[in-house]
Amino acid sequence: MASLEDLTTPALVVDGDTLEHNLTTMATALPGARCRPHIKAHKTTALAHRQRAIGHVGFTCATAREIIGLARAGLGDDLLLANEVLDSEQLAALAGVDGRVTIAVDSEVTADAAADAGIRECLVDVNVGMPRCGCLPEDAGRIADHARARGLDVRGVMGYEGHLVDMVDRAAREEQTAECMAHLARAHLAVGGDVISVGGTGTYDCNHFGTEIQAGSYALMDTHYARLPDLPFRRALFVLATVISVNQREGFAVANCGLKSLGMDHGTPEIDGATVWYCSDEHTVFSVGGELPNVGDRLRVWPAHIDPTIAYHEHMHVLVGEDVAETWTVDLRGW
Ligand SMILES: Cc1ncc(COP(=O)(O)O)c(C=O)c1O
Repeated sequence: MASLEDLTTPALVVDGDTLEHNLTTMATALPGARCRPHIKAHKTTALAHRQRAIGHVGFTCATAREIIGLARAGLGDDLLLANEVLDSEQLAALAGVDGRVTIAVDSEVTADAAADAGIRECLVDVNVGMPRCGCLPEDAGRIADHARARGLDVRGVMGYEGHLVDMVDRAAREEQTAECMAHLARAHLAVGGDVISVGGTGTYDCNHFGTEIQAGSYALMDTHYARLPDLPFRRALFVLATVISVNQREGFAVANCGLKSLGMDHGTPEIDGATVWYCSDEHTVFSVGGELPNVGDRLRVWPAHIDPTIAYHEHMHVLVGEDVAETWTVDLRGW
């Protein structure tokens, strides 16, 4: 069995025990269909199998590729593409998968595209405050009627409060989530159906309206979500890097991972006991309170945002203790 020392760096590494803790904690809080894990967080079929084994039957996806890959892997019981799609080739491929596929629509145009391609089921995606996809709540009923007239089965509504999931103050997060959900409730009254798909890791236990929560980051976590003191999930994913240069006079060291192996939209990564100065394409520059590390030392670089970090990598290695027990292919990358 390989050990951490044997891995070529930069390498994406998952702490197996922490992953287990996160999966079990979520499956206890939101068992079975109450959680619809979002695959875009990790893009890895092997990890989706773990989520399925612990009881979550349905998955949320952001891309056609994720849906098709999960269905091929036998995980197609109930797949939601929580995103608008217009590409007719992608839609036709989605209509042909061996499994149940539901697509988000937020306009007559997206409903028409889905119906034309032979998609059978949809949710009406409602904007609940985040400036991204989703129709106005008052338009949801009209769009649902249109979708039904085009032969689609409208299963219900979706509303993602993505502008609130990372609020550090839990009371404010919970209160503002309830306000957003009042808009979704209005839309749901007009749309009907029994699915109300909402939320993310930060609101997994403070969104009390949804029938299911689309949490993704909880399984592996990152430093951005770790700021939320009430979340029981722990950081399980790091980039293993090697110190390739040390500048004793200026008091800094350089690790061999940078912008091309770390998603940086939520800020610089963290290194325990160190201050990260900045990242460039292939470098992370940092200082430490005490003695600098040696050239050749290995260290754990904790990403600020796992989703884009993982999308840069072809594999993730799963650790048990200091041993690499498994290597998973990040097989659902691309579109
Ligand atoms: C539509 C949608 N649902 C849910 C999520 C929640 O993901 P996470 O649990 O990683 O915050 C996201 C993340 O961006 C999303 O885009």
